[in-house]
Amino acid sequence: MSETISLMPTCPSGQEPSVLERENQRLRQENERLARALEEQARESSSLLRRLAGINEELSHFAYVVSHDLKAPLRGITLLAEWLCEDYGEKLGPEAKEQIALLQSRVNRMHNLIDGVLQYSRVGRIREDMVAVNLNELMPTILDTVAPPAHIRITVDPDLPTITGEKTRIIQVFQNLLSNAVKFMDKPRGEIHVGCVAEAEYWRFRVADNGPGIDAKHFERIFRIFQTLAPRDEYESTGIGLALVKKIVELYGGRVWVESEVGKGSTFFFTFPQKSEVDTPACRAVSGPCGQAQAAWKEPLRPL
Ligand SMILES: Nc1ncnc2c1ncn2[C@@H]1O[C@H](COP(=O)(O)OP(=O)(O)OP(=O)(O)O)[C@@H](O)[C@H]1O
Ligand SMILES: [Mg+2]
Repeated sequence: MSETISLMPTCPSGQEPSVLERENQRLRQENERLARALEEQARESSSLLRRLAGINEELSHFAYVVSHDLKAPLRGITLLAEWLCEDYGEKLGPEAKEQIALLQSRVNRMHNLIDGVLQYSRVGRIREDMVAVNLNELMPTILDTVAPPAHIRITVDPDLPTITGEKTRIIQVFQNLLSNAVKFMDKPRGEIHVGCVAEAEYWRFRVADNGPGIDAKHFERIFRIFQTLAPRDEYESTGIGLALVKKIVELYGGRVWVESEVGKGSTFFFTFPQKSEVDTPACRAVSGPCGQAQAAWKEPLRPL
């Protein structure tokens, strides 16, 4: 008599497995498959992180070398121009003196450009401690560095929040927006205001001014690196400020935009997450927990 061979595992009783048992077995197998896939992914992620840390170190070194090597000849040019003025000052006519002054201002701009590019390249790469930053306490320091002239008044909402982030980056965002509002102010009485409202999971900050305003067709462009609307000789400009602001804000998971009317002024808005946890998108974007990232990606050499 032929025997029927069942491919299904049988119950201890010798009977065919129940639907429940078959489902149980299928789930066990699926579980094992997922565990293997997870292990594989973890291996891949840690190798990716190692590569990323290597690339970061290379970039830091590159930024250091570039800034050092580009600044050295600039220092030479500045010194030569100074010597020219000192040694031949009396012999130089007003036109020559003007040209030397122009040369010095160009060298200065080059310096600012190198610094700006360096700052831009550091965002998200060189990590600082995530700290609670009380903006009410920080704002006076920022206003001091912006140093508005007497005809410009800066007012600030009384109850700004405390946010968690890298302090230097937060300062950079406000500094750039405020220094723009001051730099481009064209009214005899300049009014600049810093405000903030709570909005779902975010704080929505604004820096509003009554300056020249910006044509809507430039709303996107001004956030791109090296983009300036006025000729660079009119204002001392590198066109990096807003690109830096955008990079920082987006690193924290926020967004930045401008609303403006030509002749009436501009309001720059940016959002920042309210959740005061260390594990912000800024941290997740570059590595695992922030503490690890800092240890692994300490800048090996300090740029000049
Ligand atoms: N508050 C403002 N009012 C009018 N125009 C502005 C304002 N802020 C920015 N802009 C315009 O956007 C351009 C880009 O700004 P951004 O801060 O990136 O560069 P910058 O101020 O020219 O140079 P940098 O900030 O690198 O010194 C400016 O050149 C200016 O034309
Ligand atoms: Mg600027």
